[in-house]
Amino acid sequence: GIIIYVLLLGAYVIGSIPTGVLLSRLLSRKDVRQFGSGNIGTANMTRMLGLPVGLVTLLLDAAKGYVAVLLPVWLHFAHAPALGLLAGMVAIVGHAFSCFLHFKGGKSVATTAGVLLAVAPKLLLIALGLFLLLLAVSSMVSVASVVSLWGTTVICATMGQPILVIFMILVSAFVTVRHHANIKRLLSHSERTIPYGLVATW
Ligand code: G3P
Repeated sequence: GIIIYVLLLGAYVIGSIPTGVLLSRLLSRKDVRQFGSGNIGTANMTRMLGLPVGLVTLLLDAAKGYVAVLLPVWLHFAHAPALGLLAGMVAIVGHAFSCFLHFKGGKSVATTAGVLLAVAPKLLLIALGLFLLLLAVSSMVSVASVVSLWGTTVICATMGQPILVIFMILVSAFVTVRHHANIKRLLSHSERTIPYGLVATW
């Protein structure tokens, strides 16, 4: 019924909350969109304000995905698991096309992590392991984000759960497209790399 649309609208608004923009304005009176890559996520918040603030951004953006998935469960919906995955996907799209940012937004890596934490925590652990490995090898958050997601999708495909595999394929494709500017920079060898120690501006 109509209540499902209200639920999905709620998931969209939750996903839309521009954590990075709000935090950067609150802590520095400047807007993270005016800095570095111009992105609103963990990587750019870390560049601008350091790793602790970056990690707070990661937690809050992940919480949006987590809450969106659990919304149908908390509201005792029938078919809550499938609806949770859909609500999670809507929150992921909301982060990228935020109603609070003129329908612009981020790359949805952290929000995806929050959705995975709620629906398949073991898969999140695999994704996190892959991410850290790829970050160590490439020094690029964008490469680590996109490749770890696709790697996790392949691993997910070997473990069954068709609905989760479909979700992973959709979300990997979405996050990849959201990284179009990074991919362009990567091809022209100008993508930002993280410095040792994560202290300097990068
Ligand atoms: O979370 C987004 C990350 O993969 C890339 O961010 O700021 O390097 O474009 P950024």
